[in-house]
Amino acid sequence: MKPVKVGICGLGTVGGGTFNVLKRNADEISRRAGRRIIVEEVGARRPNPDCDTKGVQVTQDIFDVATNPEIDVVVELIGGYEVARDLVMTAIENGKHVVTANKALIAVHGNEIFEAAQRKNVMVAFEASVAGGIPIIKAIREGLSANQINWLTGIINGTGNFILTEMRDKGRDFADVLAEAQALGYAEADPTFDVEGIDAAHKLTILASLAFGIPLQFEKAYTEGISKITRDDVQYAEELGYRIKHLGVSRRTEAGVELRVHPTMVPESALLANVNGVMNAVLVDGDAVGQTMYYGAGAGAEPTASAVVADIVDVVRTLTADRDNRVPHLAFQPGELSDLPV
Ligand code: HSE
Repeated sequence: MKPVKVGICGLGTVGGGTFNVLKRNADEISRRAGRRIIVEEVGARRPNPDCDTKGVQVTQDIFDVATNPEIDVVVELIGGYEVARDLVMTAIENGKHVVTANKALIAVHGNEIFEAAQRKNVMVAFEASVAGGIPIIKAIREGLSANQINWLTGIINGTGNFILTEMRDKGRDFADVLAEAQALGYAEADPTFDVEGIDAAHKLTILASLAFGIPLQFEKAYTEGISKITRDDVQYAEELGYRIKHLGVSRRTEAGVELRVHPTMVPESALLANVNGVMNAVLVDGDAVGQTMYYGAGAGAEPTASAVVADIVDVVRTLTADRDNRVPHLAFQPGELSDLPV
């Protein structure tokens, strides 16, 4: 069978990690996908010193990747809203399957993107958009598909959790830990997304959409970050037997589905209180299975690359199967939150 050709757009932290994992584990990955996977082209404004792209076509024009007739799967890892949207829409219009780690893009433009993908019969996969290396999208979409999900909650921003953990354990300054999170490649290009809860709200929007079968409605999420939390707050909480965690919470209510992200006092005996550093965890309550919890690295080059590459494998396996019987990656029902059955 012909190899599948992949184009990677963006060679920053996640793009570099994805390139390296695809290269290092090429045989294993291709065996799991059932076809050889080749990186045909990379689109990046500047090289990544951690990536040896020798032998791969590199362009500064990411749209060249999205329109390259040789490429089957476009991997969008540039981040941000508008250029990423144009890139993904161009790729879809050109009949490419898309893999993205971009939660902002999915949360804000996802409805339009999935509609276009369905029209063109291509897949858009986004496992890496939530909780880094934790396969939480697949867990909700496949693993829990028998369940009516009652609620989910979790720590879904690694940078914020890293800051809160270091403030508590080492008494460090907010700004100092944030600078370290940036240096480690955990933070967003604009770190206010991390500390003001926007990144977590993007991710919660996606999880809620999958869990409750509702359209993506980021603008309806209550969003509060950790930027006002002080070392004193963290210490007082500790004295009272609590830890301050930044949580995303979504649940069914009589009025519809609730979406909120904010700092929360969590009793120190709770599992979520003991999720530290850059780790993320999501707790899901389903009517059949009860509570299940998913834990792992929520940010960083290779943990996120793990999820990106898993999506490439998933797309390749699905596209190799019968085209007409393909199950779309996401099928949202039109309608507003308030129209939804609760
Ligand atoms: N800035 C994000 C975080 C990256 O810290 O969780 C992973 O989505």
